[in-house]
Amino acid sequence: MVRIRFRPVTGDMVECDAAIGISLLEAGQGAGMPLEGTCEGQMACSTCHVIVDADWFDRLPEASEEEEDMLDLAYGVQRTSRLSCQIDLSETMDGLTVAIPKDSQDMSR
Ligand code: FES
Repeated sequence: MVRIRFRPVTGDMVECDAAIGISLLEAGQGAGMPLEGTCEGQMACSTCHVIVDADWFDRLPEASEEEEDMLDLAYGVQRTSRLSCQIDLSETMDGLTVAIPKDSQDMSR
């Protein structure tokens, strides 16, 4: 298990313990974050967009070109934006902190 922290646009930071090997998207959804993840990790939607804390950004495996291309289409992209479906949790990510962008919405609600 690793501890992940999510910072929603409004409200307090949410912490959750997530299993190693699941994606950051799955961890966020499990923690009740409004990450839609419409394409379920196929890199076809960008609704799983998160903004990684600057301290953590360089410690994550680099984004693929496909991920960068998809991020270009996401709303409100910042320098440390990533697609959470493309980040598989590993032991080294204990304490990872990400913000949920403003435009994130969960259509299923
Ligand atoms: Fe669609 Fe991540 S879930 S790009």
